[in-house]
Amino acid sequence: MSSIARAHTLAALFWMLTGMLFGLWMGAAEKLQFRPFHIGMMLGGFLMLAAIGTIFRLWPEMERWRFARLHFWTMEIGVLGLNLGTLVQNLTGDITLQAVFSFPTILGAGLLFHGFWVTAERA
Ligand code: HEM
Repeated sequence: MSSIARAHTLAALFWMLTGMLFGLWMGAAEKLQFRPFHIGMMLGGFLMLAAIGTIFRLWPEMERWRFARLHFWTMEIGVLGLNLGTLVQNLTGDITLQAVFSFPTILGAGLLFHGFWVTAERA
């Protein structure tokens, strides 16, 4: 992995592109019941991961944080699972997947808070 900031940003751009394409399809096909999935892709996928990539870029010392990789995978898998869970909820009404994948995502948020607290330069 070349840099954590780059990896998070690449994931964010993936969600941006797929979320926009999905939004286009959703609008064109008049399938607005899938709006929550589109919103998850755009806000949870694109905007949140872009914000995390930006944090790692603004405080590059975070790259050397010992949990940076663990955090990366926790967050990326969490967001992927949450978004798939939203799709399943849209299709079937079942929220199990969302509930399960909220845990790695919340863990990722907690880890990031910790990492920022202990690593990011205070000056
Ligand atoms: C090519 C780009 C995009 C397309 C084609 C698209 C398409 C759509 C469509 C068709 C809807 C449903 C509108 C309705 O219910 O009447 C929608 C809703 C929404 N989109 Fe997008 N979208 C795009 C980009 C974005 C971006 C960049 C974001 C945020 C970063 C975003 C966030 C949202 C949100 C939050 C809603 C829900 C709005 C509401 O329910 O009031 N979309 N989008």
